[in-house]
Amino acid sequence: MRITVFAIAALFGIGIATIANGQEHDPAMHQHDHGISMAEPAQMHGADPVVDTRQMVYFPKQLRERTLANMRDHLLSLQQIHEALSTLDYDKAAEIAEQRLGMSSLGLHGAHEVAKYMPQGMQDTGTAMHRSASRFAAAAQEAAATGDIKPTLAALARLSGACVACHAGYRVMDQQP
Ligand code: HEC
Repeated sequence: MRITVFAIAALFGIGIATIANGQEHDPAMHQHDHGISMAEPAQMHGADPVVDTRQMVYFPKQLRERTLANMRDHLLSLQQIHEALSTLDYDKAAEIAEQRLGMSSLGLHGAHEVAKYMPQGMQDTGTAMHRSASRFAAAAQEAAATGDIKPTLAALARLSGACVACHAGYRVMDQQP
């Protein structure tokens, strides 16, 4: 029993000590202490669905629109990468990642122009995404030789983790604050 409680507590990142001590869990506390909510999936841990703590970043209107269009292409790229991996087409997965998300895509996205509107943390997360996409491409190419897909999947998880990290921290608006 205790093991189960620990496993669940670990899964949801909740206060293990409190639960293990056998204290009653008051559902009303969900409203106030999101650290112990069991209803939230693990990925939501730390993200408050009501209070939006993301930093607002100003982008001129056209740039914001272009950025969001790029973002939709990012998502399309991820989808196409998954599809390529499902048929073990490593070369295709690597090419999509490198050309559309990786270091080779910087010119494509006008990264230079966008960068000057971004706070440092956002720039760094963007750079981390481009790097992890290029690392994914390298891992996929290696998998084509070794036949071991695991490092490729791990690299893909790190890549999508970079998307998640930036979305958790920032929003863009086209009006000066
Ligand atoms: C450097 C930061 C950053 C990175 C990295 C990033 N995004 Fe975004 N993304 C944003 C911001 C900011 C928005 C706009 C959010 C808002 O204002 O509500 C956005 C919005 C989006 C949207 C919504 C587009 C629309 O039309 O509204 C999608 C889809 C998206 N991103 C996909 C991705 C994917 C997939 C990745 C990773 C491959 C990714 N993004 C990486 C910052 C980032």
